[in-house]
Amino acid sequence: ATFETLIVETRGAVGLVTLDRPKQLNALNSVLIRELVGQLRAFDADPAIGAVVITGSQKAFAAGADIKEMAELGFVEAYIHDFLGEWDAVARTRKPLIAAVAGYALGGGCELAMMCDFILAADTAKFGQPEITLGIMPGAGGTQRLTRFVGKSKAMEMILTGRLMDAAEAERVGLVSRVVPAADLVEEAVKVAGKIAGLSRPIVMMAKESVNAAYETTLTEGARFERRLFHAMFSTDDQKEGMAAFIDKRSPDFRNR
Ligand code: HXC
Repeated sequence: ATFETLIVETRGAVGLVTLDRPKQLNALNSVLIRELVGQLRAFDADPAIGAVVITGSQKAFAAGADIKEMAELGFVEAYIHDFLGEWDAVARTRKPLIAAVAGYALGGGCELAMMCDFILAADTAKFGQPEITLGIMPGAGGTQRLTRFVGKSKAMEMILTGRLMDAAEAERVGLVSRVVPAADLVEEAVKVAGKIAGLSRPIVMMAKESVNAAYETTLTEGARFERRLFHAMFSTDDQKEGMAAFIDKRSPDFRNR
């Protein structure tokens, strides 16, 4: 497939999607959203792919939804077409999704990164929800996800003032899993994704599903859900192989399907 707004590559079992509207700092227009959601579905369906990395440019992961495209939008049109509704598909991706963020991740860019399973940041990364300065608020999950990541006080301050957070602060408060030098970002993200892709595919997907349950339910129900999936894992060849390999002091050879 050819894309207007993305560069799509594979590195072994890793799908690598680079947002590619560099002149607009990867502003997320409707074509980009459609292409990204379509490609994530394709990777989910592709048995050769075990994990996916989404990245942008050195200057911007994405500077937000495309303001020029949104400026004249009316309520009825937004409502009828459920503006931004298709973004939910990113969070519903079943294979692991890593955001590799350098430069600006603002507005919808920050929200896109937070829809991924974890965020690796370059030391140049800057996160923010500046929508309030445009007369709107976050509309792709930012008020919900940022609050769960960083707590109420920081989320309120960022969303009510538009203040940006640098990479060090983002790591300190748990918005990102790790900070790496900008020059190493994509290589490191692909390496981490490759490690995940080499593990048991169904077990990895169940682990992702189980962690995500922590966002959706109570501790008791979440732990129950976890245990049900945990028990099911003992029906897989990969559990037998993983434990046999440990006992034999060799590397496991997971079937990955
Ligand atoms: C459309 C954008 C854009 C955006 C940047 N550009 N961000 N176009 N939508 N969100 C364009 C600029 O218009 C400009 O194009 C070019 O990209 C380069 O940007 P500059 O502003 O010249 O770069 P710089 O001075 O380095 O400033 C970088 C910046 C600034 C601080 C990131 O661009 C900025 O503040 N951008 C907007 C950030 C923002 O408010 N994001 C939230 C969007 S609302 P031209 O053609 O003029 O050279 C949102 C709603 C959430 O995301 C909904 C969920 C999806």
